[in-house]
Amino acid sequence: MTSKLRLGVNIDHVATIRNARGGTHPDPLRSAHAAARAGADGITAHLREDRRHITDDDIDRLMAEIDLPLNLEMAATEEMLASALAHRPHAACIVPERREERTTEGGLDAAGQFDALRPYVMRLTDAGIRVSLFIEPSEPQVEAALRLAAPVVEFHTGRYAHVEGEARAVELKRLSDAAALATKNGIEPHAGHGLTFDNVVPVAAIPQLNELNIGHFLVGEAIFIGLEESVRQMRQLMDSAR
Ligand code: PXP
Repeated sequence: MTSKLRLGVNIDHVATIRNARGGTHPDPLRSAHAAARAGADGITAHLREDRRHITDDDIDRLMAEIDLPLNLEMAATEEMLASALAHRPHAACIVPERREERTTEGGLDAAGQFDALRPYVMRLTDAGIRVSLFIEPSEPQVEAALRLAAPVVEFHTGRYAHVEGEARAVELKRLSDAAALATKNGIEPHAGHGLTFDNVVPVAAIPQLNELNIGHFLVGEAIFIGLEESVRQMRQLMDSAR
């Protein structure tokens, strides 16, 4: 029996639906409370430069009103650093961000952007915020995270989620090898992106992983079965893998 796998529920797309009409419904804060009731261990939210979903006000309210730890996803920019330092979330996950992309496509190049990332990791760490780097599951990226002294890495599971058959087995092995390498080096490995009821179990079975962050599928599935039920079923699938 391996340890419990934490579930971080990403509520960005509750805000996407709200923003489609510019009002206040559905409220991401209400979804955070629902996720907590259904067994989530944390709430994840990405404050993007263009504020296409989560807003500064959402982060203010999440920090003030939820009991679960908040994992703030952010680009390595001065603006986002200032927001993180003002809000002091439990964790900050540094992600790559390009304005034209629909979602976070691919991991951060921690190896190639070492010098640019270092001050962000240091300033967040100095403020007592647990830094995580959203990287591809590869040896050079884990080694760069180690040199950057990041306590946590989150492996981008997008490639795993988007391929099938033999290619998926190859991606699963990359994830598993990278998780083992991170743990061996004292870095806590997390994973996320594109995870669904159909593909989560093999990832959840990787014993070194401590946390999965899941959003789009849970919010989409909530249309059919409700958010609490979608979170509850995901939690059960994750637990069944351990
Ligand atoms: N983890 C990180 C760092 C992300 O940026 C995202 C969403 O972009 C997720 C997890 C969740 O991905 P999804 O919405 O596909 O479940």
